[in-house]
Amino acid sequence: MKTALVTGASRGIGAAIARRLEKDGINVLRHDSGKADLSTMEGVDKALEGIDSLDILVNNAAAAPGGPIETDTPEGFDHLFAVNVRAPYFLIQRARMNDGGRIINISSVATRMANPAQTSFAMTKGALETMSRTLALQLGPRGITVNVVAPGATRTADNSAIFTPELKTAIEALTAHQRLGTAEDIADVVAFLASDDARWVTGQVLDASGGLFLGPPAQGVQ
Ligand SMILES: NC(=O)c1ccc[n+]([C@@H]2O[C@H](COP(=O)([O-])OP(=O)(O)OC[C@H]3O[C@@H](n4cnc5c(N)ncnc54)[C@H](OP(=O)(O)O)[C@@H]3O)[C@@H](O)[C@H]2O)c1
Repeated sequence: MKTALVTGASRGIGAAIARRLEKDGINVLRHDSGKADLSTMEGVDKALEGIDSLDILVNNAAAAPGGPIETDTPEGFDHLFAVNVRAPYFLIQRARMNDGGRIINISSVATRMANPAQTSFAMTKGALETMSRTLALQLGPRGITVNVVAPGATRTADNSAIFTPELKTAIEALTAHQRLGTAEDIADVVAFLASDDARWVTGQVLDASGGLFLGPPAQGVQ
């Protein structure tokens, strides 16, 4: 039986990923911040405590977006980078991944937007995407794939309050499928990348957004 570690599996997308991988017959180790605070290196090591080897590592845990540049603080910025970038990087360094393993890092479509409200958050996810490409090359000879799933706006039991009717309507208008995503929409894509079927896919960023930002073209554009 394969073993997976899913970080941030207490709720939201991480919990859905853990449920889906379990349904696929995988032994899932669920991490949450109460078990190991990933803003510290002690927490990174604690998250891996007692794990002899891993077939699948899903770096899903993330600190929530900070503010725009005007209100961001150095402390908040460091926290964001510690949880969203340093922790995944050193989890990969220290996890005893089996050959043929799968590493899946959860980014965000925020990396392709110029959203002043989420500059520092988008920077962390951009770093995650760059890291994934490089590590895909380095770990390729061992048959380990490293990929990124970039969710679009995804409503979960815990974040539904942020999707006001106005925001929901605005996002749906920009989305090919004209709805918000669900945690299961993201989990199913992660499950594909974790499966044997995805053995030939590595170093890629896969949007799971229902076609956010696909159009429509500006008026007058042929
Ligand atoms: N939801 C969206 O619309 C959306 C869109 C794009 C990308 N994403 C990305 O998708 C992933 C999951 O999103 P979500 O909405 O499900 O997030 P969420 O509900 O905020 O859950 C975040 C998870 O990360 C854990 N976490 C946060 N800070 C931590 C820390 N210092 N140490 C250890 N664990 C920590 C939380 O653990 P505790 O519960 O123990 O605090 C929780 O399990 C994240 O990477 C997020 O950036 C989400």
